[in-house]
Amino acid sequence: MPDSPRLLQDVSDLSREEVFSLFEQTKAFQEILQRPIRKVPTLRGKGIALFFAEPSTRTRVSFEIAARTLSADVTSIALSTSSIQKGESLADTFATLSRLPFDLAVIRHPYEGAAQFAFQWFQRSVINGGDGCHAHPTQALLDAYTLWARGAKLSGLRLTYVGDIAHSRVARSGLKLFSLLGAQVAVCAPPYFLPLNVSRVFPQVKVYTRLSEALANSQVLIALRVQKEREKSFYSSREYLELFGIGGKVPSHLLIMHPGPVLRGFELSREVLHSDRSLIGDQVENGTALRMALLYTFLAGN
Ligand code: CP
Repeated sequence: MPDSPRLLQDVSDLSREEVFSLFEQTKAFQEILQRPIRKVPTLRGKGIALFFAEPSTRTRVSFEIAARTLSADVTSIALSTSSIQKGESLADTFATLSRLPFDLAVIRHPYEGAAQFAFQWFQRSVINGGDGCHAHPTQALLDAYTLWARGAKLSGLRLTYVGDIAHSRVARSGLKLFSLLGAQVAVCAPPYFLPLNVSRVFPQVKVYTRLSEALANSQVLIALRVQKEREKSFYSSREYLELFGIGGKVPSHLLIMHPGPVLRGFELSREVLHSDRSLIGDQVENGTALRMALLYTFLAGN
């Protein structure tokens, strides 16, 4: 049994050793997902709440499959059908959940810090499934795992996030994680999609303002979705597509990733999306085993 409840707010809650241990565990769990009967009793009797206050396909569904595959009892709570609609606070919601038979909650929320806040009231383990523009640790972990599982040497790897860095929790967590693992990280974006004082916020991160520089200097590009729901003033789609959309022939040395959902034909052309350089399908597939490894580590591993 784990000693005490744990919070995964961001990748900085994990050490380098824990990250590689999670990767090994993920590899083992991938084998279970290949079996004709995809079920093991590892977390039988454990209760897991999935509280999603923002839309999600990949994160929510893969956590649900991960929990069920490990035989945990999983309950999905959607904002639209919760008592938050009747005025209950997030604090009271998690205080209420703490009196129900749950051992762990996964929370996605538009407010930065929501996972940490929920942890205070829930007093059981909490995993951040994405909070505002702040952090998305499980996406960063599955992205790094996807490269590691292909045999990529993460130390020294030249990896660039392209696009809406300013609003991206994926990039914020990914830049931290890939730096921890020794990669040479960079961002590439028009000025309006770079965080203010980017070089002060991420001193170790190289900044490219032209896609051609990123293409020439990277081994991996992680394209990001333009988050129109967070940037209402963004209107120059054509300019973005011309300057930062990844299309045409991708250099043969380059791997392309994207956390999804992809705005097809916008951040990536159809050809790039379906090319053999794209790891997007692998990212989705690896997400389930990676989240199984996290649930196992938080609820059963020590
Ligand atoms: N990458 C990601 O978080 O996707 P979802 O919003 O579909 O969960």
